[in-house]
Amino acid sequence: MKEKLKQLDESVRAEFPLIRESDIAYLDNGATTQKPESVLRAVDEYYRRQNANPLRGIYDLSMEATEACQKARQAVADFIGAEDACEIIFTRNASESMNLAAYSYGMSALQEGDEIIVSTAEHHSNFLPWKQAAATKGAKVVYFDPEEDGSFDLDKLKGLITEKTKILAITQISNVLGRINDIKSMTELIHSVGGVAVIDGAQAVAHIRVNVRELGADFYAFSGHKMYAPMGIGVLYGRKELLEKMPPFLYGGEMIESVTKEKTVFAELPYKFEAGTVDAGGAIGLHAAIDFINQYGFEQIVARENALTARIVNAMKEMPYIDILGDKKACNHHGIVAFRVDGVHPHDVAQVFADEGVCVRAGHHCAEPLHRYLGELAGIRVHSSTRVSVGIYNTEAEIDRFLDVLSQIRGKMGF
Ligand code: ALA
Repeated sequence: MKEKLKQLDESVRAEFPLIRESDIAYLDNGATTQKPESVLRAVDEYYRRQNANPLRGIYDLSMEATEACQKARQAVADFIGAEDACEIIFTRNASESMNLAAYSYGMSALQEGDEIIVSTAEHHSNFLPWKQAAATKGAKVVYFDPEEDGSFDLDKLKGLITEKTKILAITQISNVLGRINDIKSMTELIHSVGGVAVIDGAQAVAHIRVNVRELGADFYAFSGHKMYAPMGIGVLYGRKELLEKMPPFLYGGEMIESVTKEKTVFAELPYKFEAGTVDAGGAIGLHAAIDFINQYGFEQIVARENALTARIVNAMKEMPYIDILGDKKACNHHGIVAFRVDGVHPHDVAQVFADEGVCVRAGHHCAEPLHRYLGELAGIRVHSSTRVSVGIYNTEAEIDRFLDVLSQIRGKMGF
């Protein structure tokens, strides 16, 4: 029987010590999220009562640690709709996950002259590994540019796909544009020529329900720390059939079945890809974070975060000196709004916010090609923006505090 969901209201804030015990408005959830008591407790409990090297020992403590890690892996699989827990590889973060896909799958599947389609909206983590793989293998990177409103035109993608296309690398939600991309249609297109799709889910997993099988993702990468879990644990989902054929990415302890001077037999999935001691505390924290999210459910999370985003976008539209990157409609920003204040450098904008206790991020957000591209479209030089991004604990009052500071910035800068 399905458990009754907890009501998602302002009481959720009490679960986050850093939010509860400070008077900042934390609006930088795209960079990382705060951690609830249940996650902190789970990590603490693990190290206090269960800590031993998972998979290594046959004594009870090590068996318990192993079991806790296995349960975490199963929880991740269920959370993203993977068919089998062995398709979940624990990594350090989404960047490492995408590097694993590029170095292991990319380097072995690509041949000279092959093409990799990479969206121009990618975080450097889903951009640079493919540039590197292409350079090493003599393959070509083909860029898939978004439209000015941040959408991706499927006809444009059709026009880029050729019989040489082997990989499509694209984000489900850009960390700058905040729009949910139509991944399902894109994976159908890439599969029609036998290619695979590598999806960056870092900005999606904590905010919308993800089902990798419904999306048709061949690889799906994300970090724990952007979904209320600790830093240092990440996930690469890969389709079993692909993972089985791929060579290891990192070599060392626990990723082998047997080693002699002459011969190495690698371990079965997922261990083949987890060299060295896994971040067990992180995996257990990630499990607790999944349980935390599931207590509320995505229906409530989406409704709450969309309402906050709409409050931001609709107010910004009344400020003629604000330029929102991507679409100007609130419904096409999912918790993320990057913007520029006419005449004020994004770092100065963020500093004014910081002085008022409002945490937002400024810079190119590790998406420099996207900023430059949007600048080219607008006929201006754009290197950076300021970004506000919401999470489960944010409130309308915090958004109003943010908007109040925003409305004063140009005045403070002498305009
Ligand atoms: N990738 C993180 C961000 O977008 C750090 O801020």
